[in-house]
Amino acid sequence: MSKPSSFSAPKGVPDYVPPASAEFVAVRDGLTGAARMAGYSHIELPVFEDTALFARGVGESTDVVSKEMYTFADRGERSVTLRPEGTAGVMRAVIEHGLDRGVLPVKLSYAGPFFRYERPQAGRYRQLQQVGVEAIGVDDPALDAEVIAVADAGFRGLGLDGFRLEITSLGDDSCRPQYRELLQEFLFGLDLDEDTRRRAELNPLRVLDDKRPEVKEMTAAAPLMIDHLSDSAKAHFDEVLRHLDALGVPYVVNPRMVRGLDYYTKTTFEFVHDGLGAQSGIGGGGRYDGLMAQLGGQELSGIGFGLGVDRTILALAAEGKSAGVPARCDVFGVPLGDDAKAKLVEIAGRLRAEGIRTDLAYGGRGVKGAMKAADRSGAKIALVLGERDLADETIGVKNLGTGEQQQVPIDDIVAVTGAILAD
Ligand code: HAM
Repeated sequence: MSKPSSFSAPKGVPDYVPPASAEFVAVRDGLTGAARMAGYSHIELPVFEDTALFARGVGESTDVVSKEMYTFADRGERSVTLRPEGTAGVMRAVIEHGLDRGVLPVKLSYAGPFFRYERPQAGRYRQLQQVGVEAIGVDDPALDAEVIAVADAGFRGLGLDGFRLEITSLGDDSCRPQYRELLQEFLFGLDLDEDTRRRAELNPLRVLDDKRPEVKEMTAAAPLMIDHLSDSAKAHFDEVLRHLDALGVPYVVNPRMVRGLDYYTKTTFEFVHDGLGAQSGIGGGGRYDGLMAQLGGQELSGIGFGLGVDRTILALAAEGKSAGVPARCDVFGVPLGDDAKAKLVEIAGRLRAEGIRTDLAYGGRGVKGAMKAADRSGAKIALVLGERDLADETIGVKNLGTGEQQQVPIDDIVAVTGAILAD
């Protein structure tokens, strides 16, 4: 193999390097924090699983499974797949560890990378990052509303407001089979090309998501699930909307919404941001009441969401906002000479142990360079230590906000910096 002159990240995979990486962490933690506020516990799962889990869980007829999975045989000749989404893996773990036999609902949240071999473009990556939640075991419309409100609060907590929540109901076993037949009857009456006809046989709902104008026009009068819900499914949906109203979460009902995964039943939703062009979905989710049983578990219901961290970052940028990235450190040490540096290394250790985030200039770049580094670090305080200060055991404490500088005993450094930072 020829030796490449340099390497670059795999195609369609974003790197997050400083300072943008701080925005990444702030967005991920902000979205996760909203789930924590509602009592979701963290779950950490493998990034690869048995291929059959996704084939069965997500659905063979979906693009995600049929075209986009990173599937390979490991050295033991097992077929494994890099997880394209989180819900199937959470179900597998809940069943495997018997969480479904404890207190219900089981409320879990996760964050991490997912992998889809999609055609890369702005906001569409092959390694994407999500924050997700799953609430398993209780079929209560109030829980649907909670899940949706958590996502809404997560986005708003970051300062985002140029998005809308679209919601619909995909019905359940009591009405979907009949609707499916009705829709197929309608679609088979149209002059569809062969591929689309096949799709109408396999997954007729997906035809409603066709972006081609001629197909859109033909399907404009298609029957919609929302007009054919059973009484129980309709009552569930109405109740979800009532709770959302009470929670003050705005929404628009979009009966033509089609999600890319097969497991959805009843409540289904998407958060759409208009500043992102074609890849406008910043998050989505819904109920998946048959999934657990399909994966070999009990007949338990579930609802959850996945929020796109990458797209949320882009959406914030489109709104000219930032997630409120904290400064990298509080205190920055500026040594004037080698002995001073050795002492500052020691002082930095002491400050960190007291919970004061501390960095210092390494490599003897001189005062000017060190002061510049102090400014760039975002620190509120620079500690300036010269050889002469060492002799009388004092240190210069400069408040980088006000410019004030004082000389204090080194022994008092924790108290003095602590007081300035608390100010
Ligand atoms: P999803 O709609 O496939 O749902 O993905 C959720 C979010 O992940 C999307 O709204 C989008 O923001 C982000 N996303 C998806 N694909 C990409 C990509 N190629 N590049 C960048 N961002 C992307 C799920 O994955 C479900 N597991 C959500 C769920 C949980 N439903 C119930 N529980």
